Amino acid sequence: MAESGTEPRNSLSIRDNRTGRDYEVEIKDGDVIRAMDLRQIRVNEDDFGMMSYDPAFTNTASTRSTITEIDGGRGILRYRGYPIEQLAEKSSFLEVAYLLLRGELPTQDELDQFVHEVTYHTYAHENIIKLLSGFRYDAHAMGIVISSVAALSTFYPDAKDIHDPEARWIQIIRLVAKMPTLAAFAYRHHRGLPFVYPENELSYTANFLNMLFRIGVRDYRPNPVLERALDVLFILHADHEQNCSATTMRTIGSSHADPYSALAGSMAALYGPLHGGANEAVLRMLTEIGSTDNIPAFMESVRNGERRLMGFGHRVYKAYDPRASIIKETAHEVFEVTGNNPLLDIALELEKIALQEEYFVERNLYPNVDFYSGLIYQAMGFPVEMFPVLFAIPRTVGWLAQWEEMLEDREQKIARPRQVYVGEGERDFVPVDQRD
Ligand code: CMC
Repeated sequence: MAESGTEPRNSLSIRDNRTGRDYEVEIKDGDVIRAMDLRQIRVNEDDFGMMSYDPAFTNTASTRSTITEIDGGRGILRYRGYPIEQLAEKSSFLEVAYLLLRGELPTQDELDQFVHEVTYHTYAHENIIKLLSGFRYDAHAMGIVISSVAALSTFYPDAKDIHDPEARWIQIIRLVAKMPTLAAFAYRHHRGLPFVYPENELSYTANFLNMLFRIGVRDYRPNPVLERALDVLFILHADHEQNCSATTMRTIGSSHADPYSALAGSMAALYGPLHGGANEAVLRMLTEIGSTDNIPAFMESVRNGERRLMGFGHRVYKAYDPRASIIKETAHEVFEVTGNNPLLDIALELEKIALQEEYFVERNLYPNVDFYSGLIYQAMGFPVEMFPVLFAIPRTVGWLAQWEEMLEDREQKIARPRQVYVGEGERDFVPVDQRD
């Protein structure tokens, strides 16, 4: 609100009380000021100038983006303007992938061409299998896939040509196409099962399920309900703007590393239990709770700050995560095919209690995307180690869209935050025999 008698202006007036000087800083894009505009605020000519201090970037925009919009207060998620609910109901994962990567929904011809390209790049070099055989039988699937993706950069030296959009597109197709193959190979290695190669006549998710689960039959065909459920889950996980792993992709990419190396880094960021590893952590937590009788004691430990209720809370959403509502519905469809997951009762009861309890209500803690997804994955036969991998496959699309946008953005440079140095001032070196 403008003070009476003053004309509203899109600017911020700042008075530096150290010097008594006034500054006017432009406000753009809603409520955004440029951090570099603070640099002019200085006590004298030798002063570096003002910076903002923002550990974990909780209030800093690092980019202007056209890919994904989240309104965390209202529980809204849109890809390129399209509400996630409509995409989950009416679209397919590869159509959404095209939308995220290209900016617009494809025509039928464009979609056919894209699906064709992805389908015909699903095979991985046979040496990847030799690489896999070096992992112990109990190696975590996520570690295997991260390593395999990093290894792909050595097979495609042309991937270093990151400034040519056509060369980039080939790497994008390869990554989207090969991720399910690498993931399925990691799973089969873990199980000691022979690898199943991609089949071109199957859909993206049916092919993935075939490579994972086909044993001893020639024409394995996944249940269409499960095939579609996985496709919906992939749509929901495809992008989520500037989260930890997307920021990692942009940061590594900003040094002009090839996309395979950058993507291995973003997968590593996703692996942690506070990010994409949360779905695995949820399942382990539900298994540990074991029965609804044990919920009160568990909730007590959460309230005391000893534990976190995994699958709850989000940096951006301060309302119900819209992806969680869709996943909850999908879970019921899947359970009609697979039978109920006994852990569902514990999850539903935890959610019921958390949505009423003061601790969670006053901190705006609602179920996030990971709370119910693990229950579906488990019912479909995935071991928990595969859960973060199931997150990484669709998120590959988001990472690549973010990477391309960063490369094309003329304002972006190599990522390099500042620090506030609070260590010792200059002091003289003391030889080891003279130290106390
Ligand atoms: N259980 C219990 N308390 C929580 C939880 C939780 N899951 N999440 C946050 N809090 C509390 C936290 O202790 C703090 O309380 P206080 O103010 O008393 O210190 C307050 O809520 C704010 O938490 P925060 O850690 O400052 O919030 P953040 O924005 O830094 O963290 C989060 C966001 C997702 C890391 C966090 O909510 C969390 O650890 N959740 C559990 C892990 C999880 O489910 N992660 C998946 C996120 S969705 C998928 C993805 O995008 O990766």
